[in-house]
Amino acid sequence: MRLRTSLTAAAFAVACATVFSLGALHDARARGDADKPAAAGGKNEHGLDIVKNPYTDNAEAIAKGKDLFVSKACSGCHGAGGGGGMCPPVINDTWVYGSDDTTLFNLVKLGSTALQAKGYTRVGQEKVVGDMPPFEGVVTDDELWKLIAYVRSKYAGDPSAKNW
Ligand code: HEC
Repeated sequence: MRLRTSLTAAAFAVACATVFSLGALHDARARGDADKPAAAGGKNEHGLDIVKNPYTDNAEAIAKGKDLFVSKACSGCHGAGGGGGMCPPVINDTWVYGSDDTTLFNLVKLGSTALQAKGYTRVGQEKVVGDMPPFEGVVTDDELWKLIAYVRSKYAGDPSAKNW
């Protein structure tokens, strides 16, 4: 039997309202950020460009990612240190759709619904199940990589399971 605690629609509405009231969507577009993800070449099995985080283990980027994790409201759902809360932890070795850079980048950018539309299914089962909202336009690609570098730096799972 699997543990499954569905998030209530109300909890999501509150969380999403927090995210989208930041006005960050407008800011990111106004800055005209046009950073492109670091292309590693090729496409994955879901037709997504395979990308690699240019900031993994970069202390400066990780510090920036830590700030963004709070200022962009990631911490509201995932907990201050990413250890989970209303939404799944992002620091353990259970990854809902996979742990590679391409998957995480697209999950945070496009959200669960769009990722599933590309053929992804939930392969890892966290105790909390819900949809990750899309952050495209709320954070730039460059900020997104810094966020992921921060998430990587907090990884507390089995070191041999790392594929980034
Ligand atoms: C409204 C709540 C909410 C917010 C805000 C949110 N997330 Fe999520 N996140 C989720 C949920 C729910 C999932 C699980 C998605 C699924 O099962 O489809 C998830 C999944 C993830 C995962 C994959 C975790 C795993 O175990 O596979 C990462 C990484 C992640 N989020 C990073 C972020 C980052 C970075 C931010 C801020 C830019 C953020 N999230 C903001 C709800 C949220």
